[in-house]
Amino acid sequence: MAESTGLFSRLFLRLGAQMDDRGARESRRELVASAAGTLVEIGAGYGATFELYGDGVTSVLAFEPHAALRAAASEAARTAAARSGIPITVVEGVGEAIPVADASIDTVVSSLVLCSVGSQAEVLAEIRRVLKPGGRFLFYEHVRSTNRVLAALEDAATPLWSRLAGGCHPNRDTVGAIEASGFRVEQSRTFGFSVLAGIPPVDHVIGIAVNGSRGNG
Ligand SMILES: C[S@@+](CC[C@H](N)C(=O)[O-])C[C@H]1O[C@@H](n2cnc3c(N)ncnc32)[C@H](O)[C@@H]1O
Repeated sequence: MAESTGLFSRLFLRLGAQMDDRGARESRRELVASAAGTLVEIGAGYGATFELYGDGVTSVLAFEPHAALRAAASEAARTAAARSGIPITVVEGVGEAIPVADASIDTVVSSLVLCSVGSQAEVLAEIRRVLKPGGRFLFYEHVRSTNRVLAALEDAATPLWSRLAGGCHPNRDTVGAIEASGFRVEQSRTFGFSVLAGIPPVDHVIGIAVNGSRGNG
């Protein structure tokens, strides 16, 4: 898996701009439109969201496990920070272990990451831990189709695709996992998106989840 993850990350670095031009940039813009305060981004990739953070954001701490993507993200952070004045720090790290204090962050952002993490439940629990009560989790993810036939095809494709594509699972019910972790999903919009020419559209979701107090969601 480590080798396929490295290959996939290098491919993502090469093809990400095409995906952005096909519509992902606009989706990322929608994703971060309400971002505010202290912000943590998990799985920042090459830093495509950094240029989109607006005035309400006071600082960004971005985690990216893969070295080549992290180097690109650091470059993107310098460019974006020079333009916006928002301090953006890029460090190595995964969503399962976010090295920041409990209840210290206003906003956590995840863009096309929860498909690939080892355990969604662990990552979501960690996001809840670092968010302040009432803090918001902004997510943009591709998800399991609501069409039963397409969902069955996604199930069939997942074992091989996951090996080829850095652990990516096309068949995850990510909004269900977010709710199951104790978040209250305040907004969620599902739409089809084809990430590259020749690849059929799959369901994506953009949403906002609110961190309630522990015990009552
Ligand atoms: C498809 S890319 C998306 C990158 C970026 N967020 C974007 O929207 O362009 C998936 C990203 O998740 C990262 N990733 C994979 N497993 C992770 C984990 N457990 N914690 C945090 N990031 C992870 C990968 O290194 C990669 O950058």
